[in-house]
Amino acid sequence: FVHQLADESVGMEELLQSPLHLAPQSALPLPPELYGPARRNSRGLDLTLPTTRALLDDAFARTTVAAIPLADPAQVGAAVDRALAAGPAWERKPAADRAAILRRCADSMENDLPRLCAVLVKEGFKCWGDALAEVREAVDFLRYYANEAERILQPQVLPGPTGESNELRLTGRGTWACISPWNFPLAIFTGQVAAALVTGNTVIAKPAEQTPAIAAEAVHLLHAAGVPADALQLLHGPGETVGAALVAHPRIAGVVFTGSTQVAKIIQRTLADKDGPIVPLIAETGGINAMLVDSTALPEQVVDAVVQSAFRSAGQRCSALRLLLVHEAIAEPLIHMLQGAALELVTGDPARWSTDVGPVIDGEAFATLQRHLELLQSRASPLLPPTEPDPRTRLIPPQAFEVGGVEQVRNEIFGPVLQVARWSGDPQAVIAAINRVGYGLTLGIQTRIDSRAEALAREARIGNVYINRNMIGAVVGVQPFGGEGLSGTGPKAGGPNYLPRFCAEQTVTINT
Ligand code: SER
Repeated sequence: FVHQLADESVGMEELLQSPLHLAPQSALPLPPELYGPARRNSRGLDLTLPTTRALLDDAFARTTVAAIPLADPAQVGAAVDRALAAGPAWERKPAADRAAILRRCADSMENDLPRLCAVLVKEGFKCWGDALAEVREAVDFLRYYANEAERILQPQVLPGPTGESNELRLTGRGTWACISPWNFPLAIFTGQVAAALVTGNTVIAKPAEQTPAIAAEAVHLLHAAGVPADALQLLHGPGETVGAALVAHPRIAGVVFTGSTQVAKIIQRTLADKDGPIVPLIAETGGINAMLVDSTALPEQVVDAVVQSAFRSAGQRCSALRLLLVHEAIAEPLIHMLQGAALELVTGDPARWSTDVGPVIDGEAFATLQRHLELLQSRASPLLPPTEPDPRTRLIPPQAFEVGGVEQVRNEIFGPVLQVARWSGDPQAVIAAINRVGYGLTLGIQTRIDSRAEALAREARIGNVYINRNMIGAVVGVQPFGGEGLSGTGPKAGGPNYLPRFCAEQTVTINT
């Protein structure tokens, strides 16, 4: 499949031949700001793919991928009632049965890989390499959480005095709200939902409004693998209405959210203010992620890591590098090399295998990025050629600006925009400045002094530290992912401490 893609002998038209799984089709008109004018084929879906040329002329237009039934906030109550009614039977299933369902879903995702990739490219404007990695990650989440559930849901027999037995048992908590973002619309969606389900909870999932079709595909595969329809329900719609109604519902037992720090705090406030039990929130948010490069670092390695971390996926990863901090002794040659490497990147049609940087997700993101770029152009020194903004294509070639230091960077710019600052003196002081800003998601360290790398990593209040490599693409079960401080509550997705947070704990003591 990858070879076919690389020589472009497979078209997206072929990959999207079978209908998407979106039943029931909505009678609602499509919101034009999301999907553009509807163009339907006999199946009610527009799967006609523009040619590359047309794409470039026509704005990677939000052509209709699928007609999605949008939920009304008033439907939330009925959905929660159904989920609660489905809860006991789902929770009574042995953990091994729920794990087997996740594994079956993983197998079907693997079998459906080309098509799922095509939906990610078409709906989420992912480049093929990113789409492949994303399906892989979703499959990994399913299998990893299946294994973890079988491990942690065994009752733990605890030592106690003679004549008494003690057991610690983990159970589901009830119905979880899973609120997921557009930048990993399959992997993060699947990870959240799988974790909640396999621990015996039921789920109402509210995916980002930009990427509903891939979420519907994942739900279809989970249902086909054996999750009862009421145990996993999908509500599409804006966060401000449908998401807000879901979080505010008094019977929601937990919320798992990936998105902005600001929205995480709104959710936290809503949960605190509503009546009923204290509801846990698992939030994974953004970061102003830095890479600290000292004068001993290998320049070629640094440049490769920076290009991957700052510009891949058009910078639309929460893990992406935003602020490169280079020791002044090597700043000149390193920036020069980086300029050359960034200019080599191909910005364009995400459907072409050779594209490195695709369009940003939508017009709103494009407009926000333009505002950031205008501000940077007026305040900082550009290191790469500026571009003529074209809202039709939403393409932003890699951009870089030299700024004064850590203190000057206060906003996460969610796109292919890198800020670069020089430092000298004590690297621990640079890490202290990063800690003071308060985001704690990813950090890169580039040095050939091992003891320094170790000391800086220990000092950093950062969830994922990458030494002498790029700082994106955490692998499930290998690099558990998630931040602290303004970047989230933990626990880390794809790590051994994730599933227990979806559970209630019960200690049973029997006087034998
Ligand atoms: N988990 C992703 C990564 O590591 C970020 O969202 O890049």
